[in-house]
Amino acid sequence: MSGYRTTLTHFLIEEQRRRQGEGVLTLLLADVMTACKRISDLVDHGELAGALGTMGTENVQGEVQKKLDVQSNELFKFCNTIGGHLAGMASEEEDDVVTVPAEYRGRYLLLFDPLDGSSNIDVNVSVGSIFSILRCPDGIEQPTAEDFLQPGVEQVCAGYTVYGPSTMLVLTTGNGVHGFTMDRNVGEFFYTHENMTIPADTQEFAINMSNMRHWEAPVRRYIEECLAGKTGPREKDFNMRWVASMVADVHRIMTRGGVFMYPMCDKTREKGGKLRLMYEANPMSFIIEQAGGVSSTGRERIMEVQPKELHQRVPVILGSKNEIDRIVSYHSEGTEK
Ligand code: AHG
Ligand code: MN
Ligand code: MN
Repeated sequence: MSGYRTTLTHFLIEEQRRRQGEGVLTLLLADVMTACKRISDLVDHGELAGALGTMGTENVQGEVQKKLDVQSNELFKFCNTIGGHLAGMASEEEDDVVTVPAEYRGRYLLLFDPLDGSSNIDVNVSVGSIFSILRCPDGIEQPTAEDFLQPGVEQVCAGYTVYGPSTMLVLTTGNGVHGFTMDRNVGEFFYTHENMTIPADTQEFAINMSNMRHWEAPVRRYIEECLAGKTGPREKDFNMRWVASMVADVHRIMTRGGVFMYPMCDKTREKGGKLRLMYEANPMSFIIEQAGGVSSTGRERIMEVQPKELHQRVPVILGSKNEIDRIVSYHSEGTEK
């Protein structure tokens, strides 16, 4: 049980001392965590809380919204408005920037995917929330979308919560990656996973294989070589996993290594990819890199992509260093099979 473990709050206060910060980030994260605890409670109660099923509406990206997508988005906005730390918010579920009333305005920007893995809600499989924190550019009172368009390397903090058998928070402020487990009885996150690191080698990959015919040659080559196993060029067998909640797939990689790909393919080329740069790819890339992993579009480090619009999508290839380096090298060789 949680016993005398360090609380998330105390961990953040220690981090704040190290940074010689003023505690703004600590207080801001407390508000983000209130939203996440409340989402965790909704997920826990499922149908009892009226959290299953669809809304019958679509978000700005033309995706069907689940009730929990909408409820989680509302909780994120509600819990993070009056704290006094934010100049604005941007959400996967919102068309435009969410403004913060002048009297509450602070100096950070919060971006979030309030509920990741929507297709898994109704089937009682792990889902999560993802968030990213940027600084509001100097001199900006009321940020517009343009003020959010900063590359991932500018992130001050990134994290995700996974609502699985346990609810966990995994967080970086640029000083390694740290994991916390929620004690449901106490309603607090406790420090359980110190300095999480990703092994450089792995024999496990995660990709939606049903898209294989749409992939580009470098990704097809990599997966075909994995599938060939012991008798193929890699001379070893590989295992495959695909939860279809990015949070859960990334959390597995944070725990035991692996490769996660939602690469460029013919199906998503028009949109630039499937996953969202600002709400999914950037925060996860910050976490993965801080844990010693690599995160790329196949052609470019994700955190160096200059965003052009809030809801921009990108191909994502991330995980154990040696495997991602190999996939990136297949891209730069322009592999044609
Ligand atoms: P979201 O639920 O926020 O829209 O994100 C879903 C994403 C990601 O979590 C997951 O890796 C991927 O979509 C699954 O896509 P497929 O259904 O195409 O496998
Ligand atoms: Mn998502
Ligand atoms: Mn989502």
